[in-house]
Formats: sequence, C-alpha cells, structure tokens
Amino acid sequence: MIKVITYGTYDLLHEGHVNLLRRAKELGDYLIVGVTSDSFDRGRGKLNVRNNVLERVEAVKATGYADEVIIEDYLGQKIDDIQRYDVDIFAIGSDWVGKFDYLEEYCKVVYLPRTEGISSTMLRNQIEEVFRIGIVGSGRIAKRFVPESAVVNSAKITSVFDTNKTSAELFGKKFDIKPYSDCFEAFLNDIDAVYIASPHLTHYDYTKRALYAGKHVLCEIPFMLKAEQAKELYDYAYGHNLVLLEASKTAFCPSFNHLVTLVKSGVIGDVVDVKTSLSKMVYAPTRELDATQSGGAMNEHAPLNMMAIIKLLGKDYCKVNFYSKIENGVDIYTKADICYPHATASMTLGIGVKTEGNMVVSGTKGYIYVPAPWWLTDFFEIRYEDQTRNKKFFYSYDGDGLRYEIQEFMSMIVNHRKSSYKLRREDSIAIADVIEKFNNKENYNEI
Ligand code: CTP
Repeated sequence: MIKVITYGTYDLLHEGHVNLLRRAKELGDYLIVGVTSDSFDRGRGKLNVRNNVLERVEAVKATGYADEVIIEDYLGQKIDDIQRYDVDIFAIGSDWVGKFDYLEEYCKVVYLPRTEGISSTMLRNQIEEVFRIGIVGSGRIAKRFVPESAVVNSAKITSVFDTNKTSAELFGKKFDIKPYSDCFEAFLNDIDAVYIASPHLTHYDYTKRALYAGKHVLCEIPFMLKAEQAKELYDYAYGHNLVLLEASKTAFCPSFNHLVTLVKSGVIGDVVDVKTSLSKMVYAPTRELDATQSGGAMNEHAPLNMMAIIKLLGKDYCKVNFYSKIENGVDIYTKADICYPHATASMTLGIGVKTEGNMVVSGTKGYIYVPAPWWLTDFFEIRYEDQTRNKKFFYSYDGDGLRYEIQEFMSMIVNHRKSSYKLRREDSIAIADVIEKFNNKENYNEI
C-alpha cells in the first residue's frame, strides 16, 4: 500500500484545497492529512486564521479524500510523521517548490500544481470587516505599531495625528498614511479606532475625545496616571459599547498568558511572592527624565510590572511602600514593596539604575523563573527542590510583540467584546491607582 502525506492550514476550505487533496490521494492508496493546530499557527505568526482546528479538520474530512487526519503541532514534526506512519510520498502544493526537498532523505517528495486564483488569504480578505485605525503620536512605539498591525485581521492603519507637523508628515510618508497635525476632530472623522502613543500627560484628553467621538481606543502605557480617570473612561466606553484597552503588551503575549494559567492551575502551589524588575537606562535629556512630563521609572515601568503582579496575586493588596532615588525631580530608581494578606510582591524599576530584569514567582511547591527581559517573555522555567522535575517552556515572540495586543483589540471590536480577560478593567484601574499613590507620595521614602 502506498501511503501519501500532506499538510496545511486548510482555513476556509476552498477549491484549491480540494484539488490538492484529490491529486494527493491519487498518488497512492492511503492519504494522511496534517492540519495545523491553532497554537502552531499562532506560534509561526499566522494570527489571522478564521476557522479553528476542529472546524478545519471537519472540512478536510468532508472532502472524502483523507483516510486519516492528524494534527501538526511542532516544527520538525513532518520528519517524525513520515517515519512513524511509514509514509512513501510527501505531497504539497507548488507554492512550496524546493522548500521540502530536505524530506527526500525520508520519502519521495512531490510538488503538485497549485490551483490558480484562489487562496485562504484571498477569501479572508473578501469576508473581512476592515476597521480604519488612526495613530496618535509618531514616536518610536508608533513606528513599530504599523508593521505589527499588518499581520492582524481587520486592522488597517489609515492616518496619524501629531501636533508636530513635520513629524506627522514624515510618518505619513514613511507608511503611506494620511498625516494630521491641526484638528484632532478632523483626524477622528476618518477613522473607526485610535491607537494612542503620545506623551503620558496627553493620554487622558486624547482618549476621552476619541471615545466621545464614538471611536474605540487602544491606549499606550502608562494608560492613566489617576485611577479616577481610568474608571471614568472605562465607564464611558462600557456605556457606549466602545472598546477601551490598555496597551499592556506583555499581558497579551502567549508565553505570559501560559505562565499565568500554569500558576493558576497550581504547578508551584500557592503563590507567596512575586518579584519583578525592569530597567532601561536613559541618558539623553528626554521625556523619561523630565519631571514636567511625568517622567521617571515608576510612570514608565510600573504599568507592566504591576500588571504581572496583579495578574498573579490580584488587585486586593493591603499596603504598598515606595523607595525612590531621585535625580532632577524624577525617580531614576524605585522599588515598590506590595503586601497582600497571604503573599508579598516587589517591583524594582530603573531608568538611571541598571537591574537584572527578571521575574521570579515563588510558591509553596516550587517557583517560576523568567529571565531578563521577562516582559518580552519567550522562555521560562518551573523549578522545584527536586531539580529532575524542572520544566522549561519555550515560545516564539514574533516581531515586537505588539501584534498580540493589536489582535486582542481587533478581536474585541469585531466580536463586540467590551472586556478582555487578559487585562480586566478593574486591574487596569488598580494599576493606575498604584501609580497615583506614588505620584501623591503615599508611603513614599527617598533613599
Ligand atoms: N493549495 C493549492 N492551491 C491553492 C491554495 C492552496 O494547491 N490555490 C495547497 C497548498 O499548496 C497546500 C495546501 O493547499 O499544499 C494547503 O494550503 P494552505 O496554506 O492551507 O492554503 P492557502 O489557501 O495557500 O492558505 P494561505 O492563503 O493562508 O496561505
């Protein structure tokens, strides 16, 4: 019996897929079809697949050509499968010519002519509801946002607003989008959603104006510097069916989400301590070092660190103490100790003091170690007293990692979801509250 194997995502199954499966089956007597798992596709940056793995498997089965359907879940699996299933022929569409020649060591490789004029990408584009996004601010982070949004469904960046006309125009030219620098309302008129990446102190005003104009908002960190402002805007958004999301990029990245679910499922027992650290040295006289622009280590870095602490221990801490080293009116270093009824946490933040930017989550059975930079998590390890039980977890962290927050934002808009379990409104308000306490110098100590 001649066994044939082929692989694919088979999203929105179309005629090209059916032709391919028919011809693959004709090459032998038994056809195995490998369908990619959702996590495998996500892991290789294919974030826009419409059908989930069960739907895709069902669609492949319904063609009647597959004798067996298997799930492709890791890189290198094809070699394992070919040997495990004793496969004679590996078949794939001609768009892959040459890419799978390395499999010739294990079986015959056949490239079948691809059906012209149809693809899943084409079908996705046809059914896709596109939302026009305007970016407020044209700095470093905004520049990273544009290419990252290109891999996310439904997101189309169409304009940029910056009060600095030259910056807006340069940005507009670079990304072929429309620049605005005078009238914010005119900028809002042409879009459906806004990404706010302007200086900290402008976040509240821009977010409010955008929401009042009926636009969905994704706002960079620090989201708000006052809890009351955060609450007011979330309430408004909720009441008007608008999506408002804090762009806490780590909160939406797959590895961090997995870490949280592992901790919640008890792999290290009860969590007793969370230690996080983040430092980025700033030398030139920039906004980060400017007290009048709410610079400083806390305002810069507390949002991500507090997010992690709150995700792991909740928002109901009993006490927070701050210890800061001040230079020219800004904290170049702050350590915050946060006390919970049954746990402790601390975050060590620097813009003029360098620290090891790792995270350690300690529990009654073991601990999780995330090496620096923990906020760009692509690896962590669960460690136990008995080291033979240690387990390492690896992930891909694609691009600048912004794609995950953009995807969550777009998915909330498309699916009319007003809240994200990855970063709840109450948690975002609690983060703003800690920042506000610091800026009000509550339990504050200068060192
Ligand atoms: N295929 C084909 N003809 C097409 C589209 C796909 O023969 N018009 C083949 C591919 O070469 C592959 C299999 O179908 O062997 C599964 O491809 P998949 O990547 O799932 O489909 P695409 O439509 O190419 O998807 P995408 O647009 O997401 O790349």
